[in-house]
Amino acid sequence: MSGKSLTERAVEVLTTADGREKTRISRAHAAAWVAARDAGTPIEVGTARPPLRPARPEKPDLLAPRDVPRRRPGTPAGRIALLHAVAHIELNAVDLHWDVIARYGDQAMPIGFYDDWVKAAAEESKHFNLVCDCLEAMGSHYGALPAHAGMWRAAEDTVDDLPGRMAVVPMVLEARGLDVTPGMIEIFRKAAATGDASAAQAVAAMEVIYAEEVGHVAYGSKWFNWLCGRAGLDPKDEFHRLVRHYFHGALKPPFNEEKRAEAGLPPDFYWPLAEQRG
Ligand SMILES: [Fe+2]
Ligand SMILES: [Fe+2]
Repeated sequence: MSGKSLTERAVEVLTTADGREKTRISRAHAAAWVAARDAGTPIEVGTARPPLRPARPEKPDLLAPRDVPRRRPGTPAGRIALLHAVAHIELNAVDLHWDVIARYGDQAMPIGFYDDWVKAAAEESKHFNLVCDCLEAMGSHYGALPAHAGMWRAAEDTVDDLPGRMAVVPMVLEARGLDVTPGMIEIFRKAAATGDASAAQAVAAMEVIYAEEVGHVAYGSKWFNWLCGRAGLDPKDEFHRLVRHYFHGALKPPFNEEKRAEAGLPPDFYWPLAEQRG
């Protein structure tokens, strides 16, 4: 294992289908990267050819978003469905981070770029496992329900555009996570207040996710700005252009202005892309 480049390791994660196995390999490679950096002997970034789509387990079945059944969050089945959707997002997030590492190996990025993406990939792996643990405590598991197809679309659309990937994935999709996570935590908090221990476990998991996702949006914003600076482009104008080009639809308020600000995402980046209210 020690001789492999970072991008080869990324491809290994991407081509592993099982979620628990994918995240185990992901965390091991992230730990190896960090240890080598700390020792002053960094692992070579190298170049590799990632698959267009990552390997996926046989289950869950992937359906068009409109065909995924909706359940009320006020019921145990509804809370399981919600966590299942989160687990699916987290598994995609693991692949999205390693895909960035493997896909743009020819872009001559500073080593700090890889530090950030490796750290975020390890956190996404932890998130997937935390949510799977919750599902299992509730008598379910990842794969028990259908999940959204099309989660990889943003990756395919931006396959040859690193600034586009930064704009659409961390700065739009992960920022959206910051908007909706407090409401999800509230759903589990209410159930936990009735003495539901697995709901309390879910609150703890979601709080870890919420805190760490701010960092992922911040990495996106930081490197997006860096790339614009290198190209001599205005980051705000470029963000608007790229999101309009790659993202299908308007951004949905209400926005979590505070956490977005903490992540380095100013209001004049996202408000002009929002759908009109009323
Ligand atoms: Fe996550
Ligand atoms: Fe994330």
